[in-house]
Amino acid sequence: MLLKGALTSISLAIAAVTSVIAVPIRQNLARRQNEGGNSTDLTNGLTDLVSWDTYTVKVQGERLFLFSGEFHYYRLPSPGLWLDILQKFKALDYNGVSFYFFWGYHSPKKGVYDFEGIRDVQKAFDAAAEVGLHVITRAGPYINSELDCGGFPSWLMDMHSPARKYNPENNANTEEWLTAIDKYMAANQITEGGPVIMNQLDNEFSFNTDPHYMEHLKQKFLDDGMVVPTIFNDVGTNGNFARGEGAPDIYGWDRYPAGFDCSNPLAWPNNRSTDWRDYHERTNDEQPMAVYEFQGGAFDPWGGPGYPECYKMVNEQYAKVYYKNNYAQGIRIQNLYMTYGGTSWGGIPKPTVYTSYDYGAAITEPGLMTTKAYENKLQATFLHTVKPFLTTERFEPESDNSDIILIDGLADVNTPTKFYVAQHWLSKSEDLDEFHIKIETTDGNFEIPRSSKLVLNGRDAKILTTDFDFNSQHLVYSTSEIFTHQDMGSHDVIVVYAYEEEDGEFAIKVNGDDTQVEADDSVTSETADGILQLTYKHPSGTTPVYISGGTEKDLLVLIAGYRSALRWWATPINKDTRVLIHGPYLVRTASVSESSIAFTGDIDETTAIQVVLPDDITSMTWNGEQVQLEQGEHGIWTGTLEFTEPDIQYTDLQEATWKYSPGSPEADPEFDDSEWVTADHLSTNSTTPHDTWPILYADDYGFHTGVLWFRGTFNGSSEITGFNLTAHSGDASAWVAWLNGEYLGGFDIENNANHAFTDLNGTLIDAEGENVISLLLWTTGHEDDFNADDDYKQARGFTQAELLGVSNQTIWSIDWKVQGNLGGEDLADPVRGPYNEGGLYGERNGWHLPGFPDNEWEDASIPESNSRTGVSWYRTSFEVNIPDGYDAPLSLRYIDDSKTRYRTILYVNGWNMGRYANDLGPQTQYYLPKGIVNTQGENTLAIAVIAIDEAAQLGQVILEPYDVLQSAIPPVELVESPGYDARQQ
Ligand code: GAL
Repeated sequence: MLLKGALTSISLAIAAVTSVIAVPIRQNLARRQNEGGNSTDLTNGLTDLVSWDTYTVKVQGERLFLFSGEFHYYRLPSPGLWLDILQKFKALDYNGVSFYFFWGYHSPKKGVYDFEGIRDVQKAFDAAAEVGLHVITRAGPYINSELDCGGFPSWLMDMHSPARKYNPENNANTEEWLTAIDKYMAANQITEGGPVIMNQLDNEFSFNTDPHYMEHLKQKFLDDGMVVPTIFNDVGTNGNFARGEGAPDIYGWDRYPAGFDCSNPLAWPNNRSTDWRDYHERTNDEQPMAVYEFQGGAFDPWGGPGYPECYKMVNEQYAKVYYKNNYAQGIRIQNLYMTYGGTSWGGIPKPTVYTSYDYGAAITEPGLMTTKAYENKLQATFLHTVKPFLTTERFEPESDNSDIILIDGLADVNTPTKFYVAQHWLSKSEDLDEFHIKIETTDGNFEIPRSSKLVLNGRDAKILTTDFDFNSQHLVYSTSEIFTHQDMGSHDVIVVYAYEEEDGEFAIKVNGDDTQVEADDSVTSETADGILQLTYKHPSGTTPVYISGGTEKDLLVLIAGYRSALRWWATPINKDTRVLIHGPYLVRTASVSESSIAFTGDIDETTAIQVVLPDDITSMTWNGEQVQLEQGEHGIWTGTLEFTEPDIQYTDLQEATWKYSPGSPEADPEFDDSEWVTADHLSTNSTTPHDTWPILYADDYGFHTGVLWFRGTFNGSSEITGFNLTAHSGDASAWVAWLNGEYLGGFDIENNANHAFTDLNGTLIDAEGENVISLLLWTTGHEDDFNADDDYKQARGFTQAELLGVSNQTIWSIDWKVQGNLGGEDLADPVRGPYNEGGLYGERNGWHLPGFPDNEWEDASIPESNSRTGVSWYRTSFEVNIPDGYDAPLSLRYIDDSKTRYRTILYVNGWNMGRYANDLGPQTQYYLPKGIVNTQGENTLAIAVIAIDEAAQLGQVILEPYDVLQSAIPPVELVESPGYDARQQ
């Protein structure tokens, strides 16, 4: 049917379109049609397994909308869970995933690379391949990503030459990384049978650019065997590297229209992009229009409003309005950043952001579904199953209310199918507005809706489809949006939806007058001129309508209200067939064996299901258990998935036995720091100017992460009245100073980077002898290099340390020692890696590790009943039992109403799972992923409390699951967690 009609359809489409469109677009449409809509595929000449034209990319010749989501393996340090998350992507009908690769995560020291354990990127490729997701690789070398140094390894801070520029030193360093990572990426390309289809050059390299550098990257990837098309994400529609030296095969851009201030989440900006199509035509018309990062959430800073607010800002309504606008503009490659944000555990984040990187994304930090996830599924399934959408050109349809409602017309160049993307001109409008559209179809010209109302109710956008051949049916138009359609053998099925209570019309072509329509009273039907029109209100559930007699095959129309539509899943059982199931929280997979279908998935309560299956499937299992299905009317089976309450157990930490030890002996003047590194540098490669010598930047001495200690010794004299210090570190950093063991003060960096300690002579300063200043610096990571200006080299330490009252100040008046994590770049704990531990005494001595003998420590209880100064350590163990077949993602939560200034580091089985700032927030709940935490056994918990105020008292801490799901979560192995003994060897 499709083939036969194709030629006439195209000419009709031209006729229909020319009457309403503006001239330049018509010319463009004509040009495209001359090319046949199937214009010759372009390739990079290295492989034809991934090709493209102006519309889309094609993978092994198959045209597809690349619906991708961003996932960071380094933000989920439990490789067993990667499969879980990527199964969720696939379940939501994503067909792609974009992986950043984080150089610093793999390289603690120049020349040292690690791809083992939690760093085993092969497992990420394997998980993507197993679930069937195409992979976009983004190995930088610079990646941004709210990471320490924007992904650069800390040792690169010592590089003299500028990063992200073509120069011998930087070339050698980037080559070192790319040689290491390219091995994995190249071996996992589609050409090798793997999932990788595209490879990005650097990241948003849009300021201080250097084409030679980009060209050098391209060449290096090539030398290392990367043959898939290269891509580049311009920071916006700015034309960087769209053409010329350094340009990739498929140029694209990034866009975050809602911004990153989640504190006023409903105040959307009115800055939806409407000029992309023109830009694309001017810039890279022969390539598909690609947005390699489109806002899927937002990061939140220390002291920010928290991720629930970010979710509110970038919620399902945002997904409707902004993503559909992308499609209207012509985007056919879309990567949603983030789709799963995860956890910036340990020291991996840059200073702006705290531990959770939930991002308000579609899938939450503990891996839970959101309404936005389901909304994304509604869109993705439509894009994958309503194929004419992939090859469209824009036209301007006629509509009423066009001052209020913008309608983009998209006409398929291969069939008569047209789409109308309707949205409010004012994206943030909350008004209810009615509109009509004039449609021209092969079945006649109409104004739709013909007899009911079509509305946009507030922050909504709709894609309406007309003149569409699907399975053995011909849709004339539908004012409900299409989720998907499927040939089930004896009949076809289509699922359509809109908000509850909104009117809908659905019109198909029928033959003769014998058409039977079976539906409840809420649906009326009328046939005129061979067109059957259903008119209805969208229900709160899903209303089935069964049409027989008028079409080649019967048609089941499932009319869903929005909430109900969210819980429809169209799960593929093979390349051409999807089965429909309604109800479950998550449907991971479906597979057919003879007449039985086996689903796997998750439920959060006893769930009534409806299932629509091909005729030859007559029974079903759910997670291996037989489900009693009843064959209802119209080919809809019904059944129930029983939720059985599990017996989940975990230790009540308030009842647990805790051990306590003080942990800042460095404050004591007698402390032996003879093994510490002497700070004796006179120059630095840092970009931070300094006022005194020696250089007091910890990175210059090989210490990069977490807490840093500086101890300064000076000989007293009657002249010295005090000293003046200026700390330099990132947002939310803090520092504490002691003199000769006495607490002098604790300072947050925002308000008190500089402090003069005065009038100390005659009191704390020993005028006759040696004096010791002890400084603890709580760092929060390094800056990134967004502007390609080497900002990542900002120092962590002190720019100035000067004695006061000395008339004849020498430039070097204090002798300094510096200390950070044990071993510096020669990691004491290579398994947990460079960002796990900092320079606290307890960290250097393995107090955070499983098996540390704390029996000599004092007993304590939490909440702590004593106020403690300096650093305090608490240790306990806890048990968890989450039975197999359940997923109950666990968290640790701090409860403390005081605003006492203290910070903590949370160690679970030796893993630094979070930094808490009691005085700043907003994060109080910390995700403990399965695999890091043993969910069927015993775990070690250690909490280091760093008092910034003179004393602090740790509040309550509790274990708490986020949710309990009866789940087909894949088995998760415990990660290797070396204990204290291993450190002693
Ligand atoms: C983009 C960048 C990403 C990430 C994002 C904000 O500019 O490419 O790496 O930083 O912003 O979350």
